[in-house]
Amino acid sequence: MPRVTFVEPNGTEHAVEVATGYSVMEAALNNNIRGIDGDCGGNCACGTCHVYVAAEWRARTGEQSEMEHDMLEFAEGVREDSRLCCQIEMTDALDGLVVHVADSQH
Ligand code: FES
Repeated sequence: MPRVTFVEPNGTEHAVEVATGYSVMEAALNNNIRGIDGDCGGNCACGTCHVYVAAEWRARTGEQSEMEHDMLEFAEGVREDSRLCCQIEMTDALDGLVVHVADSQH
């Protein structure tokens, strides 16, 4: 199974396995990653799964969708590399993905 590493704001890393077809947000919830709430269940409607995607991965994860961009306008600490991780579906091509959890999910 592909792996994704979550990096907390304090630098603590958590590498977890996630089956293909699941979202990065689901991987976070299934592994109790602190700072990822996923309140809307992955419908791109809450902004509580905000992460930063490491530069080397952005070509493979793709960019924000228009709906995702609109939702991120309500989030704190938005940057060019911001993504809502419920919108990133794991594939074998994303094995080794690194995402940094945003400081706040509000
Ligand atoms: Fe709600 Fe991602 S879980 S926007």
